[in-house]
Amino acid sequence: MPESQSPLNPQPYGGVVADASWRDEVRRLADEQDAVILAHNYQLPEIQDVADHTGDSLALSRIAADCTASTIVFCGVHFMAETAKILAPGKTVLIPDARAGCSLADSITAAELREWKSEHPGAYVVSYINTTAEVKGETDICCTSSNAVAVVASLPEDRDVLFCPDQFLGSYVKRETGRSNIHIWAGECHVHAGINGAELTERAAAEPDADLFIHPECGCATSALYLAGEGALPKDRVKILSTGSMVEEARATSATSVLVATEIGMLHQLRKAAPGITFEAVNEGASCRYMKMITPAALLRALREGRDEVDVPTDIADRAKNAVERMIAIGRPGGGE
Ligand code: 13P
Ligand code: SF4
Repeated sequence: MPESQSPLNPQPYGGVVADASWRDEVRRLADEQDAVILAHNYQLPEIQDVADHTGDSLALSRIAADCTASTIVFCGVHFMAETAKILAPGKTVLIPDARAGCSLADSITAAELREWKSEHPGAYVVSYINTTAEVKGETDICCTSSNAVAVVASLPEDRDVLFCPDQFLGSYVKRETGRSNIHIWAGECHVHAGINGAELTERAAAEPDADLFIHPECGCATSALYLAGEGALPKDRVKILSTGSMVEEARATSATSVLVATEIGMLHQLRKAAPGITFEAVNEGASCRYMKMITPAALLRALREGRDEVDVPTDIADRAKNAVERMIAIGRPGGGE
């Protein structure tokens, strides 16, 4: 973990130091306001540690749907907070900084999706959870990285599938399901697209005994599977995983070192889950600037001032909810939360 992100060496973010008094104040305000704090695995370590729950997009969606708190403070990016609002319309949903967007969600609009659908009448639309509520409203079923293969496999084989917006996750799903009738939108996440096959191969060659934990949004995911098939990478060590599944695999693996191809915030949960294993980022520059907008100062402000509140128009939320609930019903095959 970079020293600047260590909870043992708190640094000021936006003029606020995430020390013990900050943590106490956050917890006091959360109790006072009947708020549950959810944090994605890419959040700053301090935010992950003060949250009630830390997890991947699927786990956090399920917690948002089931929790009894009257307010959800979503420490993640905007589409995640929107998804919580869609699932829990009666609750107040706050995101500590509404500017925390997602380059992948921005890579398709509802108008573009409508046009694409008109070119493929009768096709099922599968949208990754990293999409706006409006795009979800045009979708038959959503998926996350932990259940994308199972979601597509659940659809009748004779119907075309439009998969959006992530091209790397789409290629992975196409390969895993063996379906030829999947059309893939050419979107990408700027952080994961930058983790490429050459970089991964070089790091893996230098550490032949290390496990490779690879998020399927990475530019290197498909080439890693190809290289494993060709024998250039150790097949049993290449693991394509959602962020939540990475934590489970960290507890299960016999490896003593792991190269991690995803956003660097992930290293914190992995190191907590398996302190005896050395986890290193394949690309240490893979930091999502949107995730890092949720600073300790922003979280404090959210709880003190009740902002930024996330709202989704009822007509869009109603349509989007069906697609998200279908995704939740499939869950993560073979996995926990
Ligand atoms: P997970 O669904 O694996 O948490 O990933 C979400 C995300 O935004 C990846 O960039
Ligand atoms: Fe979006 Fe990429 Fe950031 Fe994930 S890492 S929230 S996909 S921009």
